[in-house]
Amino acid sequence: MKQFYMAGNWKMHKTVAESATFAKELSDKLSPCKEKVMIAPAFTALAAVAEVLKGSKILLGAQNMAGEEQGAHTGEVSVLMLKDLGVKVVILGHSERRHSYLETDKMVNAKLLLSIRHGIDPILCVGETLEEREAGRLESVVGTQLRSGLAGLAAAEIAKVTIAYEPVWAIGTGKTATPEDADAVHAYIRKVVAELYGEVAAKAICIQYGGSVKADNVVALMAKPNIDGALVGGASLKAETFAPIALFRP
Ligand code: 13P
Repeated sequence: MKQFYMAGNWKMHKTVAESATFAKELSDKLSPCKEKVMIAPAFTALAAVAEVLKGSKILLGAQNMAGEEQGAHTGEVSVLMLKDLGVKVVILGHSERRHSYLETDKMVNAKLLLSIRHGIDPILCVGETLEEREAGRLESVVGTQLRSGLAGLAAAEIAKVTIAYEPVWAIGTGKTATPEDADAVHAYIRKVVAELYGEVAAKAICIQYGGSVKADNVVALMAKPNIDGALVGGASLKAETFAPIALFRP
């Protein structure tokens, strides 16, 4: 049976103590979980959550990282610092980073190559705005984000990458893409990956859906052939809303 990849992006929420307590609650509740699970606390809470997750199957993720290894980059966090804390996964190119902090495809690409070089597995986020979708530009926007985001990545490394399709209009709005709509975009993502890396890589790549994923829509979304997991924001902040997503039954 297919293993799904369920990830929680905590965004800018929770103090160190709140994060540690919550991570402990989750690792207890999710101990029977058969899926791959990742949680991404704020940078400030990574060390405390890493401590709590020792011996747990839950992977520790970061929400972003710098595109340079080190140097004069005030306010940035380096891949070396994340590695030092035991971070295994990094979310890159989230639409909030692209839109509020003006991250370009080129910046996202530099981060992706750096994460791979240091053994941290990236989740590359792609997704269109409502305006782009309505203008018929969905495929060109998502296609460009993918091709640019993966530029220069060797074929041997594509298996380490997860793609998250997060339509911007569905994030934090309560509006979810219908399972059919999401599946169609995931199929398109697979097609682009096939063009770049071949059919075997395209079939194997994990493509998460993100955007108002909840316990009551997760079953219908995961039932679609091209949806391999979820990147969850709001519903990942409480055990009673995240555990049913991670523990869902097809
Ligand atoms: P919501 O689940 O709150 O819509 O957020 C999705 C998201 O942005 C995850 O990265």
